[in-house]
Amino acid sequence: MSWQDSRPGDSVDPLVSRSVVQPVRFAGPVVKTPAVFVIVVWVWRLIAGVVGAVVLHPVATGLLAVVVAVGVVVDPWWLSLVGAGLVPVVLVVWWWLWRASFLRLAGWRLLALWRRFWVYRRHWQPVMVVAGLAEFYQDRQYLPRLGRVRCTPHVDRVSVRMLKGTSPQAWEKRVLALAHGFDAPSCRVVVDGPRRLVVEFPRGDSLSGVIPALPVPEAVDLAALPMGRAEDGSWWRMRLHGTHILVAGVTGAGKGSVIWSAIRAMLPAIRAGVAEVWAVDPKRMELSLGRRLFARYADTAETAVGLLEDAVVQMQERAGRYAGKVRKHTPTTDDPFVAVVVDEVAFLTAYHPDRDVRRRAENALATLTSQGRAVGFSVLAALQDPRKEVMNLRNLFPDKIALRLDEPSQVDMILGEGARERGGNAHLISADPAMGAGVGFVRLETSPYPLRVRASFVTDSDITRMETDYGRGSSLRSLPAESGADDLFGGDAA
Ligand SMILES: Nc1ncnc2c1ncn2[C@@H]1O[C@H](COP(=O)(O)OP(=O)(O)O)[C@@H](O)[C@H]1O
Ligand SMILES: [Mg+2]
Repeated sequence: MSWQDSRPGDSVDPLVSRSVVQPVRFAGPVVKTPAVFVIVVWVWRLIAGVVGAVVLHPVATGLLAVVVAVGVVVDPWWLSLVGAGLVPVVLVVWWWLWRASFLRLAGWRLLALWRRFWVYRRHWQPVMVVAGLAEFYQDRQYLPRLGRVRCTPHVDRVSVRMLKGTSPQAWEKRVLALAHGFDAPSCRVVVDGPRRLVVEFPRGDSLSGVIPALPVPEAVDLAALPMGRAEDGSWWRMRLHGTHILVAGVTGAGKGSVIWSAIRAMLPAIRAGVAEVWAVDPKRMELSLGRRLFARYADTAETAVGLLEDAVVQMQERAGRYAGKVRKHTPTTDDPFVAVVVDEVAFLTAYHPDRDVRRRAENALATLTSQGRAVGFSVLAALQDPRKEVMNLRNLFPDKIALRLDEPSQVDMILGEGARERGGNAHLISADPAMGAGVGFVRLETSPYPLRVRASFVTDSDITRMETDYGRGSSLRSLPAESGADDLFGGDAA
């Protein structure tokens, strides 16, 4: 018999409570903490807070200490406050007259102080909790510790001490949440030691403006060609000698500006004859403008394959001469550095209708990329679609650049597994050429974290001028043209 069919007079003992269902909660026994413990804890926290403030902000706390000390010594104590009021005036004058030294010694620190308090401290708890980086254990909430904030001209570097038992991967997965949480355009997580992270937040997008072509360097460093700027405000320099580079990006991503920035950075070496560019231009759009800068130029499939195979022959000849004698190539006029630049490489290796052409191109590129590094042959190739079926030579390129890509999965194909989680969001780069063309992510040898960079924009008129000043037949070029190169230059350049 259940309680529903009970008759009047029956006593119905509600075995099951019919109030709103609540989980059973066991309250812990209430233990009175002796007041002395509470006081000791408070005092301890006060001391820790003061010591922490002195360590984190030595200048600010030092200034405060000076004001208090002066207040104790001078007679009407408030004079010291008046003196303290002069500090902002001094700072403004300093900023006005000696800006560089002000920024270096005080400006960035003051900004860091302010940003730590106003942006990071204020939003720390909500962002950590909502992003899922806070932990709850036995009804208590634990937050990662916000450490020192350092400001550079473009980024905030926030030191963080992770909770015990959490991993940097947990942070890498949440870079988007962190960026939005702290009102930054992006976020990068860098491991700084056990339980220590440095989380970088750019202040505004330092790469949103077009970077005009960089000045041609006087001395060429083939291991650090000036290409453009990095997100943290530093120069983006790229190694070409001793490596091979694959540039991936959809049409209009600005692959041309990466290629041309590299060529521009090598101009004096090209003129001196210690570096050569061999150009393959299947679309005839990208490289034809600067033909006189190139030792070799090919724009049809047959000539392109021939060019690549010639490069292989020369490379192997050089390797034969070096064997057992030279371990590392040094560019000279006899043995120049050869940069084989291939635009739209998939046109040769995947899309060309002739199977023989595809096979030969692929073989030549595979040989060059696997054996060319040590003897001074490097391949710089541009590619639209990084999927494996299109480009299975991908892994032969030690260095890769991801410009704007269509799909998130393509990022990891180019920059390596996990690159997207570490902030390499190449699929989110703006499609507006003014904002996003030439913007991409690179991985430096020293770090697994992709760095956001923008190549300088070498315009058609820049290229024309480069050709005039540095191309074959230019009045400045002292060396005779390469034998075997096609005769494209009759008389002086215009
Ligand atoms: N570094 C850059 N900065 C600004 N705009 C650029 C840059 N590179 C390219 N652009 C613009 O984007 C357009 C497409 O660039 P392009 O190099 O031809 O792309 P892709 O070769 O990847 O198809 C160019 O016509 C130019 O207007
Ligand atoms: Mg192009």
